[in-house]
Amino acid sequence: MTKILIAYGTTEGQTSRIADHIADVIRKHGVEAQALDLKGSKDVSPADYDAVIVGGSIHMGKHQEDVADFVRTNRAALERLPSAFFSVSLAAHGDMENAEAYVANFEQQTGWHPTKVGLFSGALLYREYGLLKRWMMKRIVRDKPGILSTDTSRDHEYTDWEQVKRFTEDFLGRLVPEDTAKTTG
Ligand SMILES: Cc1cc2nc3c(=O)[nH]c(=O)nc-3n(C[C@H](O)[C@H](O)[C@H](O)COP(=O)(O)O)c2cc1C
Repeated sequence: MTKILIAYGTTEGQTSRIADHIADVIRKHGVEAQALDLKGSKDVSPADYDAVIVGGSIHMGKHQEDVADFVRTNRAALERLPSAFFSVSLAAHGDMENAEAYVANFEQQTGWHPTKVGLFSGALLYREYGLLKRWMMKRIVRDKPGILSTDTSRDHEYTDWEQVKRFTEDFLGRLVPEDTAKTTG
């Protein structure tokens, strides 16, 4: 049976929720999926899977180092297998130029040029940040009025779950339907 790896990095958990959603969508299509946080799974090998989706989130303009390391180590496999990349940021909510620039930097940093890229809006988890992080995030958000909320009394999720589903189903659609071919052929 086809098995897909979703290898991701996360700092506050939103990319983890997105990776789980991708895995759920894949499983609903009868394909096996495993979402793995790269922080605790350094030795995971894409060679054990039929396709790989890599994801990470942006903090201070950069994706997690764990994600870049994984891509550098496994670049040959990512180029051989069907693969895709998704980047989670707040820039993806109304500042696409920056969201795209983050991915361009990642490509330069790793040498990997994924054939399919998803730019997903993340979350502003004011209630979960410590005092300093909350203050800093509010300042950053205040500089871009009207796009993101400065109401620190609650968390704000900007992820478009339908977009995540479409990205996943489009990726699945590009895979050779091996199991289907076996049963019908
Ligand atoms: C300290 C901090 C720095 C961030 N820096 C950026 C940034 O430079 N650009 C951006 O678009 N989003 C930035 N974000 C927003 C995150 O990408 C967003 O909150 C995302 O949902 C985080 O995903 P994660 O929970 O999987 O780590 C930052 C968030 C935090 C908390």
